[in-house]
Amino acid sequence: ALRRAGNIHWQHLDVDKAARARIKGQKPRVLWFTGLSGSGKSTIANLVDKRLHAMGFHTFILDGDNVRHGLNKDLGFTDEDRVENIRRVAEVAKLMSDAGLIVLVSFISPFRAERQMARELFAPGEFVEVFVDTPLAVAEQRDVKGLYAKARAGQLRNFTGIDSPYEAPDAAELQLDTVGESAERLAQQVIDYLVD
Ligand code: PPS
Repeated sequence: ALRRAGNIHWQHLDVDKAARARIKGQKPRVLWFTGLSGSGKSTIANLVDKRLHAMGFHTFILDGDNVRHGLNKDLGFTDEDRVENIRRVAEVAKLMSDAGLIVLVSFISPFRAERQMARELFAPGEFVEVFVDTPLAVAEQRDVKGLYAKARAGQLRNFTGIDSPYEAPDAAELQLDTVGESAERLAQQVIDYLVD
């Protein structure tokens, strides 16, 4: 059947998402990691990915720093560019989930509205929001990339948590309190949630 959107027609494809997932022996999931810069999103997502992969699942990671080197290299850190960054990555996550993959998305994704927009692309239960809840003071203290220092010195504008907002989730499926916890144990919490 053809569905019309302007002069664009939706092309029906015979091999569907369920069939693609079935052959992989898994259910598609999107694990959406959100949190401040330096909160530990990428470290935890990477560990979860490694474990799922070792368990035989077909996964892929979309990471902010990496996607911004390619697909989104035309985007900066204004509110408008962040909105477009998240819109594109949500659509890519959707394509990957249509391919039957378990997708791990690791972006600051500071705005509630865009995370909600991403969630609505997926079936109920498929989208798992993981709030990597590291207080600003802790992320700033770690300052692994030295970006907080630059932002405080006025050398870096629109930095999340300093002069650009971060809207914390209030109903994430998973909230990881990272203070005093190892990345390994936090990754295990995510795995336990999925296995349930
Ligand atoms: S967003 O808000 O979702 O569009 O950001 P994201 O694509 O995840 O990119 C965040 C990484 O970009 C680096 N960086 C900045 N972050 C926040 N604000 C500003 N102004 C900025 N400039 C560069 C930073 O290394 C982020 O990486 P993480 O892994 O989050 O620390």
